[in-house]
Amino acid sequence: MQLHHMINGIISSRLLYGLIIVCLISSCAQKEIIPKDLLKETLIPIPVSMEAAGLSFEVTDRTVIYTSGDYEFLDHFIREVKLLSGLNIDVAPMSTSRDDGGIYLILKKIDNPNDEAYELEITPKHILIHANTERGLFYGIQSLRQMMPKELESATQISDPILIASGKIIDYPRFGYRGAMLDISRHFFGIPVIKKYIDYLAKYKMNTLHLHLSDDQGWRIEIKSRPKLTEVGSLTAVGGGKGGYLSQNDYKEIVRYAQSKYVTIIPEIDMPGHTNAALVAYPELNCNQKDPYPKPYTGMKVGFSTLCTSNPAVYDFLDDVIRELASMTPGAYIHIGGDESHATKKNDYIAFINKVQAIVSKYGKKTIGWDDISAASLSDDAIAQHWSDKNKAIAAVEQNAKVLMSPATRTYLDMQYDSTTPFGLHWAAYIELDSAYIWDPGKYIDGVHEEDIVGLESPLWSETIDNLDKIEYLAFPRIIGHAEIGWSPQEKRNWTEYKTRLAKHESRLIEMGIDFYRSSLIARDSISSQ
Ligand code: ACM
Repeated sequence: MQLHHMINGIISSRLLYGLIIVCLISSCAQKEIIPKDLLKETLIPIPVSMEAAGLSFEVTDRTVIYTSGDYEFLDHFIREVKLLSGLNIDVAPMSTSRDDGGIYLILKKIDNPNDEAYELEITPKHILIHANTERGLFYGIQSLRQMMPKELESATQISDPILIASGKIIDYPRFGYRGAMLDISRHFFGIPVIKKYIDYLAKYKMNTLHLHLSDDQGWRIEIKSRPKLTEVGSLTAVGGGKGGYLSQNDYKEIVRYAQSKYVTIIPEIDMPGHTNAALVAYPELNCNQKDPYPKPYTGMKVGFSTLCTSNPAVYDFLDDVIRELASMTPGAYIHIGGDESHATKKNDYIAFINKVQAIVSKYGKKTIGWDDISAASLSDDAIAQHWSDKNKAIAAVEQNAKVLMSPATRTYLDMQYDSTTPFGLHWAAYIELDSAYIWDPGKYIDGVHEEDIVGLESPLWSETIDNLDKIEYLAFPRIIGHAEIGWSPQEKRNWTEYKTRLAKHESRLIEMGIDFYRSSLIARDSISSQ
């Protein structure tokens, strides 16, 4: 009997162990759902609304992404999740059932009709991203990325479970134009740096990169009908740097790459001033009797060069340049510069801008220029980029043109943070993070209202910077504050809250490998106390 009992005991305990092991493998017991608070996420830009549900969705080997499209950004996201977790996430065609473990990318009309809007609903069972357009889905994924472990940014595998806080996000942008400008003329930056900058912009829901392609110090874009622009005009940079240029194939590659991240490229040819490099290449476009053959210029002074606005050959030249540029630019705008043309007589300047607007329009594009162009007759679809003189922005609005906000005292990323910043300039201001963040574009200029404004752009001039680390140091983190100004509702933005959120978000910038400025204004003490 005793032996029988013993054998039974051994069998039943084996059964029990077996059952436990089978249960563990097949998760026959209800899996524990780990609580997580959506409101503790440090999303930048802060969404329009976030409602926490207190639970979480776990990304596991059973997670499947359902989609009806073939999106490049999705392949990228799946690769990132694999590198983070080791998990191979499957993709499947959209189904009407909402299976457990599914992440659904659903195109449908949502409450907000904006084509960049999205809704993100997270439950322990599934994640739903709804949007009117593929671009909206992309922004939903960007928010989801920021809710995943920060190691996603550095492609580092972690062993902890990947939990996404449950709840609902409704989100759409305040402005349609959320941009940055990179000056590749004063110092040249090529494809790798430009692509990296595009990556950064897209992660923060910025949608425009304005490339400053020509200036006194160098011409940076191949124009096939005017080969000397690059053969001669591209060889210099500030301080004797080596120069360089984008071939048309390079430019097209950048445009394509930007499109894959929903970023529009706006090319700028600065004119009629800031043209010394073009005049070195084609001296016949110059009518300066004192200096008919300009020398290459590597200094930092502005306002001394001008195209000869009375010479018809100048307009043939610009027709060639704008035609070639327009033909490889899918975006709606060509930027014609127009700033600081101190060597051009005022009436000549006005006639010139009017003629150039017509050329831009002949090639099916619209004009953007620095707000100086409001001295001319702006067409209704023109945009004046406000940088310095508020009256010039007001003059643009009075002509029914729109304004792009880039006040130098708030948005110029080449301005130093303070007097100890190792590079950068300070002719407009020292711009600490609070100064970059605490302002409202819609109330910044009396007479320029929210509806007159297309959005916000953060220019980065490159007189004092010649590598990616320096770009990052000046841009970050001010640029992500600007991204938030452009995207989030004014009433959601609050410096005290932002500096705590940014303190936590800094660890994500570190994972991205960004060499950012560690401002003493940031509330890092708040992190350890939570
Ligand atoms: C500018 O900063 N000259 C537009």
